[in-house]
Amino acid sequence: MAIMLVSVRSATLLLGLAVLCSSDFAPPTININLDDDPQVRWMPIRNVFDADFLNRAARDVIDSTIPKWLHNVLKSLIKVSEKFILPKPYGDEIRGLASHFGFSLSDAIMLNFAYEVTAFCTSIVAQDKDGRIYHGRNLDYPHAVLRNLTVNVIFKKNGKISYIGTTFAGYVGLWTGQSPYKFTVSGDQRGSQHWWNFWKNMVSAFLLKRKPVSWLMREILEEAEDFQDAVLYLSKIPIITEVYYIVGGSKAGQGVVITRNREGPADIWPLDPINGQWFRVETNFDHWLPSPAKDHRKETAEKAMNSTGQDHINMYSLYQVLSRVPVCNGITVYTTIMSATSPENYTTLVRPPHCHNSVRAKVLPFFGGEKWDFPRI
Ligand SMILES: *[C@@H]1O[C@H](CO)[C@@H](O)[C@H](O)[C@H]1NC(C)=O
Ligand SMILES: *[C@@H]1O[C@H](CO)[C@@H](O)[C@H](O)[C@H]1NC(C)=O
Ligand SMILES: *[C@@H]1O[C@H](CO)[C@@H](O)[C@H](O)[C@H]1NC(C)=O
Repeated sequence: MAIMLVSVRSATLLLGLAVLCSSDFAPPTININLDDDPQVRWMPIRNVFDADFLNRAARDVIDSTIPKWLHNVLKSLIKVSEKFILPKPYGDEIRGLASHFGFSLSDAIMLNFAYEVTAFCTSIVAQDKDGRIYHGRNLDYPHAVLRNLTVNVIFKKNGKISYIGTTFAGYVGLWTGQSPYKFTVSGDQRGSQHWWNFWKNMVSAFLLKRKPVSWLMREILEEAEDFQDAVLYLSKIPIITEVYYIVGGSKAGQGVVITRNREGPADIWPLDPINGQWFRVETNFDHWLPSPAKDHRKETAEKAMNSTGQDHINMYSLYQVLSRVPVCNGITVYTTIMSATSPENYTTLVRPPHCHNSVRAKVLPFFGGEKWDFPRI
């Protein structure tokens, strides 16, 4: 039985790889039960990812992100202080992941903070002529191995879906998520942070007790009552680093880009459909400033939105906009398309290494690849 399971799993990996070479593919989906103890709730990751593969991938990310000497310093620091520093429940989740997969705890912590700083992205929130809100995002990250680590996660509570999101195996935070029938949210890195600053985020998290941006996102997905509640908390709760939160709601007009400082909001940029502002595009720069001359993602996305038009915006056409080069580029890992009022259509596709080579071949995105049973509210 055990042997069979293993071979099915490696067949799946091989299959994934074959698809990877030619076009976009849907990542695996796992269920996480929030009623389980945080230390064991990520066990289902083992059903879709091989422990050896995860270990090698984690090594790869850590070794290429963190210089050896800093790694050693952090390892010693974490050894003496981990009991005091890891907030619940995410600290326990990281501890559990480390023990299931044979990572050292310090590697598991570093991995979780390494992903916290380098998410380049494009997010778009838009409203069609009927007042329906659509939200799409590209997640760009310069690590090819993340394509093989992308996973959709369905978080359940009391047997029902509480929220869903997309992340990387081994990383407990979310940069992309949806609270069914309430709101959708994505995060884009703000400013030009570099890996060598990531330890400052750890210090800020541990000493000042601030939240990593991707943990706040999970918390809000789980707890916020509605769009307005989500916008309020995503705006004001102190976090460890600057970020843009892009939020889409369930009613006309409910779309916003929140520009965050660590302490609170720097700016709130809502949709204004009555005055023709039916979409907002956010990349990694403050919307009131011009993008750097070499970065054409925002301009390309806005032009594509304009030429699509409010009459023709939908999940499919939004996916097409996010497929335009350079909005989709060499380091784009995945694209997610979502709409809070159609939670069953939440779609993530992993992009091939050279986005533009395959996009034209793709006819339709993979809507509702799985039948998900969303409780109506
Ligand atoms: C995906 O994983 C396989 C090993 O399972 C590896 O050979 C391949 O290079 C990986 N692809 C990327 C893009 O990292
Ligand atoms: C998109 O259209 C709006 C409204 O017509 C215009 O103000 C804006 O400059 C256009 N953006 C681009 C990038 O073409
Ligand atoms: C959701 O998916 C179904 C099935 O593909 C489709 O008919 C429907 O139009 C989609 N809804 C939205 C809002 O895109």
